[in-house]
Amino acid sequence: MQTRVIILVENTACAPNLRGEYGFAALIEQAGKKILFDTGSGDALIHNSRTKGIDLSDLDALVISHGHFDHTGGLRSLIDQYNVPVIYAHSRLFNPRPFPLANGTYKEIGCAFSKRDIEAKNIPLVEADNFQEIWPGIFLSGEIPRLTEYEDAGGNFKIEINGQLFDDEILDDLALIIKLSKGLVIISGCAHAGMINIINNAMEKTGVSKIIAFIGGTHLFAASESRIEKTAADLKKMDIDKIVLCHCTGFYAAARLYNELGMKIIKGDAGMVLNFGGAI
Ligand SMILES: [Fe+2]
Ligand SMILES: [Fe+2]
Repeated sequence: MQTRVIILVENTACAPNLRGEYGFAALIEQAGKKILFDTGSGDALIHNSRTKGIDLSDLDALVISHGHFDHTGGLRSLIDQYNVPVIYAHSRLFNPRPFPLANGTYKEIGCAFSKRDIEAKNIPLVEADNFQEIWPGIFLSGEIPRLTEYEDAGGNFKIEINGQLFDDEILDDLALIIKLSKGLVIISGCAHAGMINIINNAMEKTGVSKIIAFIGGTHLFAASESRIEKTAADLKKMDIDKIVLCHCTGFYAAARLYNELGMKIIKGDAGMVLNFGGAI
């Protein structure tokens, strides 16, 4: 059975009838299971899935990569129109995230739905703080250790915990890992944990060093030249076939990675369908 990953929300779209929207969402189809990873920031998820003839009425699970609006904003429309049997997310999902602006005020960029929204629909919320296998061959990373010296969360993020404001490393940032017979497919939301940390963690936890594809946001849009250089150098050392750069990668980082890694680098778009080999 083929494994399919369909990018449903991305900052840009690859066809005139599809919508680009700031954020990310992808549907994973494997061994009869349908898992939605993130929901984008608005209504592009529903629009693009309908336009492409992708049926969201029989989802097996929704995974939320982290508590930012551009990954959670499509949830309300989704649960109004479709049945979502279970949501996996980190326990910090609902913490407020006031982002400091240059004028001294804050803008809330946290989760776009509340616990009440999903309780009203009786959708169970399963904590995903730790590495776990949710179906045979499909894993959630849980919290990803920050081990590289050159990667950080990618911005001056803040989080409110028990009414107090702290710097936010975005510990809730998690990845979905599919273990196939030929290697791993890794799906990332924003990669606030760092792209290299995410890949290293997936390899360590699964014991598989071959990466068929990394798909998703990399949060390199504001990265320093030195960070991009070190990221490219580490990617070159890995046995990785395809890197589908999405969402918060940024033009400059994408161009630099393309220069360094050539045809392995692909620009992700809403509507892109990626087919992979069978499960183990
Ligand atoms: Fe994002
Ligand atoms: Fe984010």
